[in-house]
Parts: sequence; C-alpha cells; structure tokens
Amino acid sequence: MAKATQPDQPLDLTDFFSAAEARTDRWRQLCALGRAWESAVATAQADAPLHAAVAKLFAELSPLESYWAYPGPRLCAAVAEAIEERNAGVFARLVQKISATLLTGAYRYESAAWDPLQENDGRAGDVLPPDLQAGELHKPYFEVLVVTPNDPSTWDRARAELKRLRRGEDAFNYEIVQVGSFEDGVLGTIFNHNVQAVVIYDGFRFPSRHDLPGLRDFLLRARHVEASALQPGAMATTLARMVKNYRPELDLFLLTDRAVESLAGSEEAAPFRRIFHAVDEVMELHLAILEGINERYDTPFFSNLKRYAQRPVGTFHALPLARGKSVFRSNWIRDMGQFYGTNLFLAESSATTGGLDSLLEPTGNIKKAQELAARAFGAQRAYFATNGTSTSNKIVVQGICKPGDIVIVDRNCHKSHHYGFVLTGAQPYYVEAYPLTQYSMYGAVPLRTIKQALLDCKAEGHLDRVKVVDLTNCTFDGHVYNTKRVMEECLAIKPDLIFLWDEAWFGFARFNPFHRRRTAMGAAAALAARYREPAYRDEYKKFAAKAGKLDPKNAKLLDLHLFPDPDKVRIRVYETNSTHKSMSALRQGSMILVWDEDFHLVEGPFEEAFFTHTSTSPNQQIIASLDVARRQMELEGYELTMRAVELALKLRREVNGHPLISKYFHIATPADMIPAEFRASGVVDYGRPHSTWREVLEAWDDDEFALDPTRLTLVCGGAGFDGTQFKTLLADRFDIQINKTSRNSILVQTNINNTRSDVALLIKVLADLSHEIEHRLAQGGAAERAAFAARVKSLMTDVPDLPNFSRFHTAFRDNPKAASNEGHMRPAFFLAYDEANCEFVPLASTEIDARLKKGPELVSANFVIPYPPGFPIMVPGQVITAETIAFMRKLDVKEIHGYHAAHGLKLLKPAVLAARKTSRVDR
Ligand SMILES: Cc1ncc(COP(=O)(O)O)c(C=O)c1O
Repeated sequence: MAKATQPDQPLDLTDFFSAAEARTDRWRQLCALGRAWESAVATAQADAPLHAAVAKLFAELSPLESYWAYPGPRLCAAVAEAIEERNAGVFARLVQKISATLLTGAYRYESAAWDPLQENDGRAGDVLPPDLQAGELHKPYFEVLVVTPNDPSTWDRARAELKRLRRGEDAFNYEIVQVGSFEDGVLGTIFNHNVQAVVIYDGFRFPSRHDLPGLRDFLLRARHVEASALQPGAMATTLARMVKNYRPELDLFLLTDRAVESLAGSEEAAPFRRIFHAVDEVMELHLAILEGINERYDTPFFSNLKRYAQRPVGTFHALPLARGKSVFRSNWIRDMGQFYGTNLFLAESSATTGGLDSLLEPTGNIKKAQELAARAFGAQRAYFATNGTSTSNKIVVQGICKPGDIVIVDRNCHKSHHYGFVLTGAQPYYVEAYPLTQYSMYGAVPLRTIKQALLDCKAEGHLDRVKVVDLTNCTFDGHVYNTKRVMEECLAIKPDLIFLWDEAWFGFARFNPFHRRRTAMGAAAALAARYREPAYRDEYKKFAAKAGKLDPKNAKLLDLHLFPDPDKVRIRVYETNSTHKSMSALRQGSMILVWDEDFHLVEGPFEEAFFTHTSTSPNQQIIASLDVARRQMELEGYELTMRAVELALKLRREVNGHPLISKYFHIATPADMIPAEFRASGVVDYGRPHSTWREVLEAWDDDEFALDPTRLTLVCGGAGFDGTQFKTLLADRFDIQINKTSRNSILVQTNINNTRSDVALLIKVLADLSHEIEHRLAQGGAAERAAFAARVKSLMTDVPDLPNFSRFHTAFRDNPKAASNEGHMRPAFFLAYDEANCEFVPLASTEIDARLKKGPELVSANFVIPYPPGFPIMVPGQVITAETIAFMRKLDVKEIHGYHAAHGLKLLKPAVLAARKTSRVDR
C-alpha cells in the first residue's frame, strides 16, 4: 500500500495533471516556508536550512512564473532580492501577499497587488457572491501571450507600449506575458489559463529558455513536435496549429513581414484570427484582441434578457408573475419576491417579442446563442432544451428514427432513450455492457459486441434497417468510450450509421485537451478530417486489400481494426449533454449538438421531434443560463475543468494512500473499473508510482475504455455501509450531498464548482468515520468484529449477479430465430394500457418459480427500473428469466420505478401473447 502523502511534501512538477495547480501549490509551500523562516529569525534560531529551502523552491518556481503576468518581473525581482539579502521579514510579507492575491484573483483589478511596496492583503478578491459585494462589477481580466523574437531586455518597454493602448472604454482589462520561443509559446498556452489570445511575431527561436525536465514533460504531453520536424519557415504556423489543437477557443494573431496577402488565404493561416503586416498595426491589434474576447463574452440571449428586464413593459398576456406584480404587491407571497430578488421577475415573460426570441422557432438572439454554442462545443449545430437531457434524448431518437428502424443500444442507457423507442416505434437491439458485479454496476459496451450486433444484422439481411448506434459517454460511473475508434469501425460495416452519444455527464469534456479526445464532437471533427486526407485513402486501400469483402460470418472481423470506405463514409453524430450537470446552467438546461453531414435528410423530422417535446412555455432563465454557461466555458472552461481533474486526483491519492482511511474505504481505480482486456496500455491508476501522465494520455488515445478521473466510485462496503445508507449518513451528519449509489459504493464527482476545501471536508469525514469504526471494533469485542466482518462480506462478496437482457417474447419479434435480438417494444408497451391484458404476480410467490420452471413464460408489461442502478432490468415485452428474478429479490433499494411490491410484477397475460403471435404488424 502506498504511503500517505505528506501535506508538506511538494509533489514533483511532473506529478501534477494541471501545471497551474502545481504552481499554486508551490506558492502555498513557499508561504509556509517563509513563515517558518521569519519565525526562526525572530527567535534567533539557526535559519540557514530554511533560507536554503526557500531559495531552492523559489528557483524552481521562477521558470513557471515566466508564463504568467502576475506576480510578474517586478514582484519576482523583489522576492529574489529578499532571498539574496536574507531578509526573512520582507520575504514572508511579499510571498504572503502574492500567494493570497493569486488565490483570490485580486491582481485582476487591484493595482496595489502589483506593487512590492504597497500593502494589499490579497483578500479583497471576487470571493463573495456579487450581490453581497459593494461597488461595481470589475472589468473581466485576461492575459495575452506574446511570442516574440526580440531580446528580453526590450520586453519591459514593449509591454509598457502595448499597455498604453488600453483605454477606459475598453470592456476588458488585459496584461501581457512575453515569451521568446516556440516551446515557451506552447508552455505558456498549457500553463497559463488566463491566456485568452496569443500574438505571434514571426522570427522567434525554437528551444525554451528553461531547460527543465518537468517543463519538457508538459511539452511532450501536448504532442510536441521537435525542431527537426519543422518545415523551414513554418515555425509560427506550426505553433499556431499546436496552440489551437490544445485550446481551440483561443484567438491567435500573427505579425509578420512575410507576404501576408498570399499567406492569409492559405491553409496554414487557418488557425489565425487575423494576420498583420509587421509591427505598425498595434492599435488594430489591440482592438482585434478585444473584439475576439467580446465574441466569446457575448451572450445574445442573456444580455438581451437583462436589457428587457430594465424596460417598463406592460403585460397583457399569461404569466402574472412576470414583472413581479402579482408577487410584490401580495399580502401573502412577498417573501418569494424577497428570496428570489427583483430581477428574476422582471426577466420573466411569456412573450417572444420585445427582443425576446422563440425557442421553438428561433430567428433572433436564441438562434445566435445556439450558433455560439455550436462554435464553442465544436459542433455544426446546437439546440437548447429546457427539460433536461431526458428531453434532448427523446428529441434526437424521434428526429432520426422512424417505426421499424433498428437501434443498437446499450441496455443501461438512461430511460429517456427507451421511452424514445416506445414513442417512435424504433426497435431496440439491446447490447450488453461488461458487468462490474463486484460493485453491482455495469461498465460500457465492448466494441466487439457492437460489431457483432451489426454483423448479425448484416448476416440476416437487414443491416439497412439499422439506423443508429446509441451509447452513453461517459457512463454515470465514468467509463469513457474510444469514440473515434467505435465510430470508425462501425462505419466500416455501415458507412451511413448515425451515432447518438449521450454525454449527459460529459459536456464539460470539450474544454480541456485531456477529455476532448474522447468526446463525440471531438471524434466527429477528427474523423471528418481524417477521411479527407489522401494518406487515409492509402490506409484504406491496404485494409481493403487485406480484409476483402466483409463477410459477416467471419469471426476474425471482430478483432480486426476495420476502416470505412472514404468514398462512402458519412459523419453523422448527435450528442446530448446536461449542461446543468457539469456547467453553470440552471437545472434542466441541456443541449443537443449535431455534426451530421446529411442533416438535410432529417431536418424536417428533427424539427417535428423538437416541437413534440419542447414546451411552448420554455423557461427564459434556463435558456439564458445555457447562453451564459457557454460563455463561461469558452473563457474559463480550461482552467475550471483542469482544476476539477486535479482535485479528483488529490482525492484519489489521499483516500487510497491514507493508512487508516484505506483500511475501510477505497476509490475504484481504472484497473478496478476497466478489465485488463480493454486497457491495452496496462495503465492501472493515475499518476506515479503507477503511471506517468504521458502514459495516461497515450492510454486515453488508444485504450478501448478509459475512466474519467472526476467520477470517483468510493467503495464504502468495506466500512460496513451500503451505498444508500452511506449517502444518507453523509447528508444527515455531514451535509455532504452525492448523487448515485450502488450496493457497496457511492459516486463522488468533482466539478467546476469544487474547491480544495470540499476535498478536505470529504477526507476529514472519511478519517473521522474510520476512527469511529476502529474505536467501535476495539471496544465491541469479538462479537462486534464478527458482526462487522459479516456485514462487509455480505456487501462486498455476496453480491447478486447482474441480469443480462434476456430477449423479447416471440410475439414481439419478426424472426424469433434470428441472432439479432431487436423487438417491437411499442406494441408491448401499449398492450399494457388495457388492464385486461395484464396480470400481477407477487415477486416472492411460488407461482413465479413454478412458471420459471414450467412456463408459461413471464413477460414484462412495463419498464422496471430500480434506482440504483437506474437501468431497466425489464422492458415491455421482455421475457423475465430466473436471473432477473434473483436480482430483483436481492435488490435492497427502495425506489423501483414500474414495480409496486403490494401488487407484484406486472405481466402481459399468456393468452394475450398467444393471440398476438398470429398478427404480424407494427412496422
Ligand atoms: C446518462 C444520462 N442521460 C440522460 C440523463 C437525463 O438528464 P437530465 O437529468 O438532464 O434530464 C441522465 C440523468 O441522470 C443520465 O444519467
């Protein structure tokens, strides 16, 4: 077992996922050392070791600081001077000031923060809710990274010159960070999340000015190119491509004395927002930088709603609450007005006029807001939904499927997919995810299984009816598909397949390069580009020559990497995400993102589906929050998502490495959650000693499945708690809320809102509970220990087998003998609307056992969805097997949708099924 990390032991730079977090951590260390040094000097103790430690840590930190505007050269020089002069008091004061200012972000608007001689306690940052903070809101702040060939001795002057261009009327404030090389340009982009624009002056050198292995490691993580691989004269454009690849949201500008006219129209220039000739355009550059930020800051719907709220509008339509008049004048509900504040009511309207737009038929600012969302998420189109991803999924399913179409779908998909099939009459072909029986949960569906399903349909001659592959990415528990690989191989079998990726939990993933590679939209863009490349044609030709015609009976195809025909392949990808689950949207705010090269084929049906499921009174605030959430992610998504990952990694390290906590609790590692056969990389856990970050990134590129580190399965069965019990305990005793549980685990997730204090809280609670258990076991004697061991065994070892989808009853199958298992779920669902067609049999009854043995078959009349785990263990028309009954009987959760213990299982009567067998309808 690994040793607990000492809180005061700085991790090596390469151990950090996020370089920005590494840096903050070092300032915290430096602050603690500074205090110790000052106190040693004050009490006349020997201070040489502390002085040496301070000097060493600051020397390590200094190169990182060259990528940030704050504290900047002046403050850093003052700190270095204090070290040089052995002035512990000045050092401690300065470092405290810088460290606190970095934490609160006060440097963004407080000029005293930048001055070594002025006091600022750094605490005045934007840490309070804006309505509790006095004064105007500050202008948003950002940094511009300038990559320049000029000598560093000229940088101060150049910075001052650019700074002079700033004017009071500018909407944003920025500072400049200069670097002098290709490598430092890449590192600046990786390290500094404040950077929003990169200005590249042609002619800079290649190597970094810092020769540190830690920095090199970060470069290599970003798929660094070596100098030797660069085409002559292509340094600036290659740098731009790398930066754009890493952080696509950034604005890039090139200043060059090359022939800008011909360059501007070339492929190479694509990453640049603008190209300027030489240096005589500084004012234009300044304005272009601000304009670029403004385009991301722009929230057409939200901004308009704010303006609308300020107008004196007389309302003669529904929604009495709009403008607040029914609330503010009320004798009885004024507290509602007080609680929510005036603006909520002023910004309410049921109108779509007056500058507001209609979600159902957007032509104005909702349309614009959706276009901006499409840009931000790398999609061709985006649609807002105000009733959660439950609705988005139904819209997509109905938009792309018609009755009789076959959908290859993970049975563990959220219930909205299954209801979507009922509504449209599409036939689900259920494919199984690999089970994680030990935690009573499922993983994700292996690619082999999906390919087998497609090949089965091909063998049976109805591949043409297979319309969609529908999967959850990432799953509730964090299993992430290799989206590119899955789509590539499926498209090799059917080149016009549509993919629906339910990324309810994964919307944030677009905004950092680690997660992005496994998103639906990231993969769609990558594949679209790949199939356009001439090199791909060669790759395909070689494959086609080797594989020949794809024979669906050829089992070897399951293990062969299949390639689609570039002349036939179409990229048709739909992604739904619960913006409210991982970004700053109000509850129910969701988006549908589309990359469909044949969207024109479904545009009409998609619109119908949108109309079917969208309220004619969509909530204005939800729409506005989607607009704002997009703004936030485009401007600070990189910072926030990188931090969320780093927090998750801290939590993982602390819990699994803590000598006491890890006796009772464990956070499931990638190796625990993903069987070795799907982890070709062999990576078992994040970070050393298990793996380097580069190895993890390679695993994320190539492995069949990866585990999202921000989704932490905390196994509590070892402490004698079942998931539901532990969730309740955390909420009741410690005010800690979590979402999902399994038989012996809870799911903890870190999000863009979490802080180090949250992590500390959870660790403290786990430590306290572990102490309590130790104490109880020590005090309670043998009987207590035996009872505890028995409880742990029942939770951790005596786990029920997870039931697979059995099959649809023959009454709901076109060809009951076929290997493919799709069935008509809609008629089964609606048969149950007539009570005369149904019967109820108690779960514990002997009748169930007798019928399982001798028939007639038990056929479910409806969906039965236990929470947890939340997937349907029975769907309408499904034959119920002994495994399903055993699982149901062992299930100890209270909430089972579609099952009422007092009535028993709702079944379709055998006579009804027999009668139906003769009628072949429903397509
Ligand atoms: C995978 C998945 N898809 C869709 C949904 C539904 O999302 P929403 O709550 O936004 O309706 C959920 C909800 O938990 C989910 O887990």
